[in-house]
Amino acid sequence: MTATEGAFAHWIAALEATHFSQLTFPEVSRALRALSSTYVERREKLAEGAALSGAGKRAAFALFYGPLHHLLVTHIVEALPGATENVPALLDLGCGTGASGAAWAAACGKPPRVLGIDRHPWTLGQAAAAYRAFGLSATVRQGDITTANLPKGPVAILAAFTMNELAEPARDALLTRLVDRASHGDRLLIVEPLAGFVARWWNRWRDTFEAAGGRADEWRLHTALPPIVAKLDRAAGLSHREITGRSLWLGGPAPQG
Ligand SMILES: C[S@@+](CC[C@H](N)C(=O)[O-])C[C@H]1O[C@@H](n2cnc3c(N)ncnc32)[C@H](O)[C@@H]1O
Repeated sequence: MTATEGAFAHWIAALEATHFSQLTFPEVSRALRALSSTYVERREKLAEGAALSGAGKRAAFALFYGPLHHLLVTHIVEALPGATENVPALLDLGCGTGASGAAWAAACGKPPRVLGIDRHPWTLGQAAAAYRAFGLSATVRQGDITTANLPKGPVAILAAFTMNELAEPARDALLTRLVDRASHGDRLLIVEPLAGFVARWWNRWRDTFEAAGGRADEWRLHTALPPIVAKLDRAAGLSHREITGRSLWLGGPAPQG
C-alpha cells in the first residue's frame, strides 16, 4: 500500500467512526437515497443547500460521495499531463468535505498548500480533517465562491461538483474570471457528473476551454470501492460499478515529445 492509499484508508475509517457514532447504517443509507434524489430529480433545491441539510445527508455525502469524488479526481489528475507537477498552491472551490482537493494535492509530486472555500459551515471542519489526513498544509474559509476574493496566482484551481450548484449568471461570471486567470498562468480543473442534465452549460464552456487551448474529457473508472462505499451503494439501490464524470482542463504544460 502506498502512503496515499494508507491515508485514504485512514480517512475513510475516521469518517466511519465519526458518522456511525451518531447514526445507524440504515439511517445513513436512507439518507443516501434522499440525497441522490436531490441531485438527480430536485436539483433546484441545491442552491438552497438542500444537499447538506440534516445529519443523515451530511453523513451520506461524507461517507459515500466524498470517497467516490476522491477516487475520480485522483484518476483525472494522474491522467492529465502536467496536472501534478509544480503545483505550488491549490484552491479548492466549493471544497465540501475536502475529498477532491485532497485527491489532487495528494497526487502531486510535491504537495501544494491548499485553500478550501465553501459557503456551508459544516463542511469546513470536514475539509480541514481531510486535508490533515493526507498530511497537507491547508486553510479552510467560509465564503461564497462567486463573490470571494481569490488568492493571487500561480495557483491550481479546482471546482469539483460545485459549478453545477451555482445559478447560471453567477456560474458564467465565475467561469469567465477563472478562464481569464488560466490565461495568465493558473491551472484550472472543473469536474462534474456525466449525467446529461448539466449538458447545456457544459457544451458551451467545453467550446470555450477548447478554444483557449484546454481540453474536455469524459471518464469511466473501474476500481474497487472501499467496503463502506460498496455497502452503501448496494443498500441504497445505486449502482456504481464504474465511477464516471467529466472534466474541463486548462493551463497544463503541453506534453513533451
Ligand atoms: C456536491 S458538493 C462537492 C464538494 C467537493 N468539491 C467534492 O468534490 O466532493 C458542492 C459543494 O459546493 C458548495 N457550494 C455551492 N455553492 C457555493 C457557493 N456559491 N460558494 C461556496 N460554496 C458553494 C456546497 O456547499 C457544497 O459543499
